[in-house]
Amino acid sequence: MQTELQHSRPSSTPIHPLDQLEEALQRLKEEHDQLLDQLGTLYDEVKGISQEQNMLSRQTRLYVLRDEALEFQRRMEEHAAWEDTVMFPLIGNYFGEQSNHLTVMEQEHEIAEQFVLAFIEAVKRAPVREHEAKEMGSYLQEALMMLERHFLSEEQFVTELWDLCSAYGY
Ligand SMILES: [Fe+2]
Ligand SMILES: [Fe+2]
Repeated sequence: MQTELQHSRPSSTPIHPLDQLEEALQRLKEEHDQLLDQLGTLYDEVKGISQEQNMLSRQTRLYVLRDEALEFQRRMEEHAAWEDTVMFPLIGNYFGEQSNHLTVMEQEHEIAEQFVLAFIEAVKRAPVREHEAKEMGSYLQEALMMLERHFLSEEQFVTELWDLCSAYGY
């Protein structure tokens, strides 16, 4: 009878950089999808707030959304930390050192985070009036647009690299 252990790769065997890159690309896409889903839901919920007539329940809902925004921010930071410690160094294996392109891309990442923070700050000033709820929604809309663009350019960049490297087999 074979045990699970016999199937697994001995820890001393190094993983080929190309396989590592493929795994990283897969994880990159999965995390991007999850993050966009989470932010999209949050944005929809914030839009719903301006229809809420009762001031007290509006405020209660806003605090729930603030916590969700904080949770989103925490997951964004985890994702960025993984990129910094795993994915970018992997890419660095191929380019020698981190390319300028990546630095520019990560600026988009930071701008998106600033919009999420602006939302969290705005909730702290609650109670909100209807026009304020709209403004808060627009912060998340900006963050969403920025992230969609940023995630796509990251994925395209890594996919192109992967295509190039696998064509040459290294
Ligand atoms: Fe990023
Ligand atoms: Fe990313």
